[in-house]
Amino acid sequence: MPFEPTDYLPYDFANRRHIGPSPEEMAQMLKVVGFDSLDALIDDTVPQSIRQAKPLDFGRPMSERELLFHMREVAKKNMVMTSLIGQGYHGTVTPPAIQRNILENPAWYTAYTPYQPEISQGRLEALLNFQTMISDLTGLEIANASLLDEATACAEAMTMAQRVSKSKAKAFFVDRDCHPQNIAVVKTRAEPLGIEVIVGNPDKMDAEAVFGALFQYPGTYGHVRDFTDHIEKLHAHKGIAVVSADPLSLTLLKEPGAMGADIAVGSTQRFGVPVGAGGPHAAYMATKDAFKRNMPGRIVGVSVDAHGNKAYRLSLQTREQHIRREKATSNVCTAQALLAVMASMYAVFHGPKGLQAIAQRIHRKAVRLATGLEEAGFKVDPQAFFDTITVDVGPLQAAVMKSAVDEGINLRQVGETRVGITVDETTRPETIEAVWRAFGITRADDNFTPAYRVPTDMHRKSDYLTHPIFHMNRAETEMMRYMRRLADRDLALDRAMIPLGSCTMKLNAAAEMMPLSWPEFSTIHPFAPANQQAGYSEMVQDLSAKLCDITGYDAISMQPNSGAQGEYAGLLTIAAYHRAQGEGHRNICLIPMSAHGTNPASAQMVGWTVVPVKSDDKGDIDLEDFRAKAEKHAAALAGCMITYPSTHGVFEETVHEVCKITHQFGGQVYIDGANMNAMVGLSRPGDLGGDVSHLNLHKTFAIPHGGGGPGMGPIGVKSHLVAHLPGHPETGGVEGPVSAAPLGSASILTISWAYCLMMGGAGLTQATKVAILSANYLAKRLEGAYDVLYKGPTGRVAHECILDTRPFADSADVTVDDVAKRLMDSGFHAPTMSWPVAGTLMVEPTESETKAELDRFVDAMLSIRAEIKAVETGEMPRENNALKNAPHTMEDLVKDWDRPYTREQGCFPPGAFRVDKYWPPVNRVDNVYGDRNLICTCPPMEDYAEAAE
Ligand SMILES: Cc1ncc(COP(=O)(O)O)c(C=O)c1O
Repeated sequence: MPFEPTDYLPYDFANRRHIGPSPEEMAQMLKVVGFDSLDALIDDTVPQSIRQAKPLDFGRPMSERELLFHMREVAKKNMVMTSLIGQGYHGTVTPPAIQRNILENPAWYTAYTPYQPEISQGRLEALLNFQTMISDLTGLEIANASLLDEATACAEAMTMAQRVSKSKAKAFFVDRDCHPQNIAVVKTRAEPLGIEVIVGNPDKMDAEAVFGALFQYPGTYGHVRDFTDHIEKLHAHKGIAVVSADPLSLTLLKEPGAMGADIAVGSTQRFGVPVGAGGPHAAYMATKDAFKRNMPGRIVGVSVDAHGNKAYRLSLQTREQHIRREKATSNVCTAQALLAVMASMYAVFHGPKGLQAIAQRIHRKAVRLATGLEEAGFKVDPQAFFDTITVDVGPLQAAVMKSAVDEGINLRQVGETRVGITVDETTRPETIEAVWRAFGITRADDNFTPAYRVPTDMHRKSDYLTHPIFHMNRAETEMMRYMRRLADRDLALDRAMIPLGSCTMKLNAAAEMMPLSWPEFSTIHPFAPANQQAGYSEMVQDLSAKLCDITGYDAISMQPNSGAQGEYAGLLTIAAYHRAQGEGHRNICLIPMSAHGTNPASAQMVGWTVVPVKSDDKGDIDLEDFRAKAEKHAAALAGCMITYPSTHGVFEETVHEVCKITHQFGGQVYIDGANMNAMVGLSRPGDLGGDVSHLNLHKTFAIPHGGGGPGMGPIGVKSHLVAHLPGHPETGGVEGPVSAAPLGSASILTISWAYCLMMGGAGLTQATKVAILSANYLAKRLEGAYDVLYKGPTGRVAHECILDTRPFADSADVTVDDVAKRLMDSGFHAPTMSWPVAGTLMVEPTESETKAELDRFVDAMLSIRAEIKAVETGEMPRENNALKNAPHTMEDLVKDWDRPYTREQGCFPPGAFRVDKYWPPVNRVDNVYGDRNLICTCPPMEDYAEAAE
């Protein structure tokens, strides 16, 4: 008997795996929203005037298996070599336990930024470990929870130095031995701010002429120097000393704090994080306690919860862009949390002795290598080094480099006559022998007698990593359980929907995540010769072409490694364009008041003045106000920054007009692409009149949020801006770089590319439509219980909706916080709180959530509304109810219960699972206590107990 044919396509990634609701579920959802078809809903929601002319067509989408096969073929075009180029990027061993349990574990990589501390205790602890590690290694009092890369950390340190320095000088000194990309990014950052960068020999520094200085050790050519005297000189003239240091070398070398440094920066890449053609890796910054309020980036601190128990949280958030906007300490939003977690676990995994042993082994290898070269008559420089040496080979440079490549090894070309060599944890005796062969030396690397080339006065004298966490039993059973315990404290996408408005917490599919761990992608040095990166370049070309098709732009720069970095890069591009037109004076930027905080913060970084524009009653840009301000500032208008669909979640039909007005008065239009998930396949920012946009690949294009990074924020530009895109010292271009590596965090581009290849044009478009359907479904189901702010003219929302909780403050003393924390009892991550409107929740379900999960969320929200009603009617007391006491912990359940509601009602509200109940590990965290009693390194356990009393 023949089979009944089935039309089910099991390997249709877009419709079967990525998009949550099944066709039947979608039909039910459409019915609730009041439409017969998805297209009818979309036609009603997305105005015709902004629709794109041609559908997206990327050919036949790939199945997961096809994708992995295809990516293997492309990966093979990258040449896996042993790179001894150094320059801030090193071979490292990722402990398999960390690779499996963190890098490849969705419990870690799908988590959101820990703004909601009660459900983020695990990653907050790991990040606190990171801060403690950095603080110890650098010998400075406080560290942040990562920055984007070492070069941007240097630039951030420069602007921080300017903020805190009491010197009136306008120049900043940079040690010529810093890595070239650090110098270049510092210069890019300095230029629009009017800071003169003086690059030179620290011994010749005129300390009076500068407000601060940046030194580096080991220097880019290997020098290990004590900067104590230089720093003293700087301090005598009120200057601020920044030291960039390799944290692994600090296990052996005198630390920046002991030299008197005010700020230390660097990269933790070699703490078990693959090079990945430039990233992502976590950079660090540490400083003195006195400067903590001026430090950029997130800082994890210790506080207490409502019951006085120890609880971690993000501290000093009032410095950040979402509060202080153009007056913020920096625009850093997404950073490198996942990589900071990996680096901190590497330190936990090895402990101080293990790290020191690794560093000593590296140093001994470098000494053996140098000795072999010296004994063969080569001139090795410097005499004191850690892991890097430079060899003068005169006219033999090309021959030595080529011989090394023939041996499978990349060395660094330094000037015309020298060759740089940096060894690392993965360097084998065979590698050293092969390097010798490249220099014409036949010799066995078999003399392992220790010899050191670090002068005694540069030896480290202080302890580090003394906290018990770095001394735990490091058997893999313990390590695995520690990582598991921390992950279990958090609520990531592997447990529940994370309905965060403007963040697009969609599926990060397993197949998309796999290629980045392949050596062909993960071990490539960002400065390896181009012919060894052919796979990367094929991927970048194809992904760029697709992103151009999607956005309507003419070219893409992959360099920015976060959305905010994209904004900054885009504005620099506009500024360079104005300069090229002889209009370099243009410095006014119109930004709607509802804009994300990174917009004004980025505008400030390029030296522009922000002019805020009002919103009208409907939440749209107030066109009259916009026009008036554009006209008033016509002579100096640099541009505007708008978000589309708006941060209120509406497709504003006036967008063309806004762009027209901006252009009419000589400005350029920056369209923030954070909300692209509402547009892909339907509408293109380039067609709307945008000149440049960033795309948060970690939102719309499936890169996971990693608990606060990594991200990627490439920018698309129109043709007239192409010549002004960021360049890089290694790859050329007229403008300076914005990131350390030419392609930013290149290795995670594999995720977005895989996403596009498997979704195809139609799948991507369908995802957008379903994201809009899901948001409208939620808005409809919650109608009556909550006011939905800001709808389009036909009463629809875009891909997110804003629920108003402000009325409950008066009616029931219930705040937006209470609602957010109560959702945790139902096993949900809170939506975006109080942005763009204070006292509201912005909900973005994305296309990846099933109807069942959306309904579970609706159940939870409706039950919360019923609880509010019970307070309103006096059935429940205003100060002691399930909302005020949320979230409830397991301890609440088992302790004496004297509450006016049952344990069942408190701990198992609708939406909560009975068996798989998520228990927040702490009660509501006291933010004020945490900022008043700031502790940002792991304190001894006894301190917590005292604090709680
Ligand atoms: C509208 C908007 N613009 C810009 C950003 C900044 O992006 P990133 O966090 O990648 O720096 C965000 C991030 O949430 C955003 O929502």
